Amino acid sequence: MASQQTRRKSAYPLEADIASRLLAWYDTHHRDLPWRVPPRDLAKGVRPDPYRVWLSEVMLQQTTVEAVKPYFRNFVARWPTVEALAAAEADDVMKAWAGLGYYSRARNLRACAAAVAEAGGAFPASAAALLKLPGIGPYTAAAIAAIAFDRPEAVVDGNVERVVSRLAAIATPLPQAKADIRAIVERLVPIDRPGDFAQAMMDLGATLCTPKRPRCMLCPLREDCAATRAGDPEFYPVRPAKPAKPVRRGAAFVAVRPDGAVLLRKRPDKGLLGGMAEVPTTDWNARQDGETAVSAAPFAADWQPKGAIVHVFTHFTLELCVYRTSHAGPTPAGHFWSGAEGIAAEALPTVMKKAIEAAIPGATRRLRS
Ligand code: ADE
Repeated sequence: MASQQTRRKSAYPLEADIASRLLAWYDTHHRDLPWRVPPRDLAKGVRPDPYRVWLSEVMLQQTTVEAVKPYFRNFVARWPTVEALAAAEADDVMKAWAGLGYYSRARNLRACAAAVAEAGGAFPASAAALLKLPGIGPYTAAAIAAIAFDRPEAVVDGNVERVVSRLAAIATPLPQAKADIRAIVERLVPIDRPGDFAQAMMDLGATLCTPKRPRCMLCPLREDCAATRAGDPEFYPVRPAKPAKPVRRGAAFVAVRPDGAVLLRKRPDKGLLGGMAEVPTTDWNARQDGETAVSAAPFAADWQPKGAIVHVFTHFTLELCVYRTSHAGPTPAGHFWSGAEGIAAEALPTVMKKAIEAAIPGATRRLRS
């Protein structure tokens, strides 16, 4: 929490009852989320399950709430406790995670579950102790401490950065503004209901204080908001101009057996999409011309072009030309076949699902609810 000195020194004079106004709004307008204990239940003494809070926060890093919901439900149905997850097969966890992206999170998930289970099954309550667990960084540690244990931590994600940069009309661009934003959140966090306060800030950012066309008329903080007073909330947060992402190119080869099975291989454990399954591809820097691509196929065959797919990673955009062939011959070394009914359950990253869909429409959706 902020020291008294930080409070006095802050450049942004914010009113003391911002937290109360926000919490009153949250009481009626909070989102119902599968990992969340709503204020009416908290008031009856129901406590959040730290396992569910942790799992949801790890899933929500870099992923949207809507995308996370079905994954969260599936995980807690299969592994309802941290001990159950610690005992899960690594491969099953990877498969259940497939599609959420940033796969090192799935590996850390099991490592963290194992560490907590080993220590008796209880998550620590302080952000400092949580921070020592695998895969838990400063944001996640603060979020778990606040939401699961009602510790007065400043929880600052992208939504909160936007809300606060508008509230205080912070002209410094991100990421340089992060320290100022954090100092303001530290001043605002209430001693009473810090967990709800953290979630209320996130909900406000997600539902009203949106990046485009914020709905300021409905905002409980509009009277406090310097950006609204200045007439241009969308101007904040100020961002430096983004360098264009490089484009990498390659080709993906979808070989289909007569029974519908698809030829896959496993990516190396380390690195991008580590440990996930993939269809064979060229390197992701190849020229896009078809001949080069077909000549790099895992075996010679009548490869038919099936168009191209685009996938945006954090640091580059990938364009893959997709080729399909029917294959009844031997299995190439280092590859395996995934049956037509099993392909939807494979630990396939989204980029590979897109490639398979381009070659076999509907193949990866068969088992998805
Ligand atoms: N984004 C990250 N964590 C969240 C949470 N606990 N509630 C809503 N949105 C979130």
